[in-house]
Amino acid sequence: MVSPVIAVDYEQPTLPYPGDAPSIDSDAPVCHTRHAWARVPPEPTAAERAALKDRIRRLLAERNAVMVSHYYVHPDLQDLAEETGGIVSDSLEMARFGRDHPARTLVVSGVRFMGETAKILSPDKRVLMPDLDATCSLDLGCPEAEFSAFCDQHPDRTVVVYANTSAAVKARADWLVTSSCALDVVRALTAQGQKILWAPDRHLGDYIRRETGADMVSWQGACIVHDEFKAIELELLMKQHPDAKVLVHPEAPADVIALADAVGSTSAILAAAQRLEASTFIVATDNGMLHKLRTLNPGKTFIEAPTAGNSATCKSCAHCPWMAMNGLADLARVLETGAGEIQVDPALGLRARVPIDRMLAFTAALKNGQPVGSIVSGIGAA
Ligand code: 13P
Ligand code: SF4
Repeated sequence: MVSPVIAVDYEQPTLPYPGDAPSIDSDAPVCHTRHAWARVPPEPTAAERAALKDRIRRLLAERNAVMVSHYYVHPDLQDLAEETGGIVSDSLEMARFGRDHPARTLVVSGVRFMGETAKILSPDKRVLMPDLDATCSLDLGCPEAEFSAFCDQHPDRTVVVYANTSAAVKARADWLVTSSCALDVVRALTAQGQKILWAPDRHLGDYIRRETGADMVSWQGACIVHDEFKAIELELLMKQHPDAKVLVHPEAPADVIALADAVGSTSAILAAAQRLEASTFIVATDNGMLHKLRTLNPGKTFIEAPTAGNSATCKSCAHCPWMAMNGLADLARVLETGAGEIQVDPALGLRARVPIDRMLAFTAALKNGQPVGSIVSGIGAA
């Protein structure tokens, strides 16, 4: 089994491709961890916040635009999205909502792959993002050329790719999945006897393999946020809160997942917090999620899972630096000026759309209780 490890130094501000010499002055179209932190917008004052929100409400109406926000972005961008008829959700529902909404402009607050997916699904809409340099360590760690070479080594495998990837990587895939449908898709493919090539998150891939028994080779990428949760520290915290339930995103390491009462996408974590009978929850995902968890569950207590031991350091400390780059002022600016527009080459977009459409058809069928066998058969390498 070949498992490529692309060496990514998230602290370097250059493209992460092996062989590239680090250069502080690079004008590479990505923004690495510490530069992302440096670009996190300052908190507006109460007066600035109110003025920015008013301006955004007016611009959304004038520009026939709707907000599509992820649960990890600043609470202001989550609340404003909902208040103005947009959505705050996981990455799967962001894609579906953007595709189906009649607005001519989508303002995506999240990371670049989310804006690209919106554009691929709605090539005729204008897709704006507060900061186009907001990326994702999984996307950075899976460059298209190396990924294509990996696929070429395994022509007998169906290529299943996580949403947190570039349009070019998606264009090489048979299937796209998010964490909310990955298990279902791989289970259905496995039932058809298909062997899987998975990329890029190694923890999610291992989790899928354990749960489905799939025959799988895996790319070895990781999310810098979820990779840092620590099982030993989590166990200590669980001892302090013996009645707490533990909610874990499957991008976390296996030993953290093993301690979970519920494992799933951001939406699944939200659903579990509402469903499970407990008053205290320990949450192993980006701490941006706590806003929605607390708003929807006022009587419950939510505690962040630990990312590092005593006196250890962490790069993300349970918050995604790229998600944190999204702010009200930039959102108002891009709506005002039209800057921050996502562009995807139309031909590439058409190819990348194929696996995304399959995912959306599959999940829609599953939701409506329809059989999914016909959707998965004949697609991929089996
Ligand atoms: P969800 O699809 O669960 O929202 O996850 C997206 C993501 O980037 C998690 O880190
Ligand atoms: Fe990517 Fe992790 Fe940030 Fe999600 S939290 S966007 S997987 S770096």
